[in-house]
Amino acid sequence: MSDPTPGAAGAAVADTRQAVLRTDDIVGGYLPGVNILNGCTIEAFPGELIGIIGPNGAGKSTVLKAIFGQVQVRSGTIHLKGEDITGLKANKLVAKGVGMVPQNNNVFPTLTIEENLEMGLFQKPSIFAERFDFVTTLFPELGKRRKQRAGSLSGGERQMVAMGRALMMEPSVLLLDEPSAGLSPVRQDETFLRVHQINRAGVSVIMVEQNARRCLQICDRAYVLDQGKDAYTGTGRELLNDPKVIELYLGTLAADQGH
Ligand SMILES: Nc1ncnc2c1ncn2[C@@H]1O[C@H](COP(=O)(O)OP(=O)(O)OP(=O)(O)O)[C@@H](O)[C@H]1O
Ligand SMILES: [Mg+2]
Repeated sequence: MSDPTPGAAGAAVADTRQAVLRTDDIVGGYLPGVNILNGCTIEAFPGELIGIIGPNGAGKSTVLKAIFGQVQVRSGTIHLKGEDITGLKANKLVAKGVGMVPQNNNVFPTLTIEENLEMGLFQKPSIFAERFDFVTTLFPELGKRRKQRAGSLSGGERQMVAMGRALMMEPSVLLLDEPSAGLSPVRQDETFLRVHQINRAGVSVIMVEQNARRCLQICDRAYVLDQGKDAYTGTGRELLNDPKVIELYLGTLAADQGH
C-alpha cells in the first residue's frame, strides 16, 4: 500500500494499514432536523471482523444504512479503501465492493436459491460460475438445494442465502444487520460460525448484533453504539471484561458467564 489515504488530516505517523471501511464522525438521520447518528466513527481494517452492539434504538441499523447510502449523511465522511463514498447509492456501492445483508426481507422468497444468488450478481453475470463455487464451498447446503424456493427455507437457511447473495459480488466488506435475530440457539451458533468462516475466507465484516456477548466473543474489535455515537471501542475481549460496558450494556453478562 504505497498511496497515502486522501483526507487523512495529515496524520504525522501514517498507519500503514489502510482501513477497508471508515466512517468519520458521521451525522445523519431520516427526517429533516432529526439526527440519529451524532458523530459516529467506525473503522474496519483488512480481514477484521468488527462487531457493533448497543441498546435498541442506538442507531446500529442506521449506521449500516448510512454506509450503504440509504440514510442521508449530513456531515462527516465514509471512505472505502481511501476513496470517499459518502452519499453514493447502493448499486454503486455494491459495484465498488460493499455487500449488505439487511435484517429483514433479505431474500426473494418466490425465487430459488440459485436465482437468489444470480440476483446478487446482476451487475457481473459473467463470473457466476466462479462465485457460485466460492459461495457453495462456504455454504454447501445452498449448492445441494439450489432449485429450492427461498420462501420454503427456515430462517437460518434464508440468512445463509442472503449472505451468499451478498458474497456473489466479491465484496471487500460485508455489512450484516443482526444475522442471528429470530433464530434458535443452535441456529444462532451456526450463523456465528458461518460469519467467522466468511471472515476467514478473507472478507472484512461489520456485524451489528443484539446478541452482544456472542458477538464480542467472535469479533476482533467492536464498538458500543449509544445515541448515535461510538461510546466504547476495543477488542471483543476488552469490552467483554470492561466493567462499564458490562454494567451499561451487558447487564446479564455476569449471570450468563457461569457455564
Ligand atoms: N425509517 C425511519 N424513519 C424515521 N426514523 C427512523 C427510521 N428508522 C429508524 N428510525 C429511528 O432511528 C433510531 C435508531 O434506529 P435504529 O433502527 O438504527 O436502531 P438500532 O440500534 O438498530 O435498534 P434495534 O436494536 O432495535 O435494531 C430510532 O429512534 C428509530 O425510531
Ligand atoms: Mg437495528
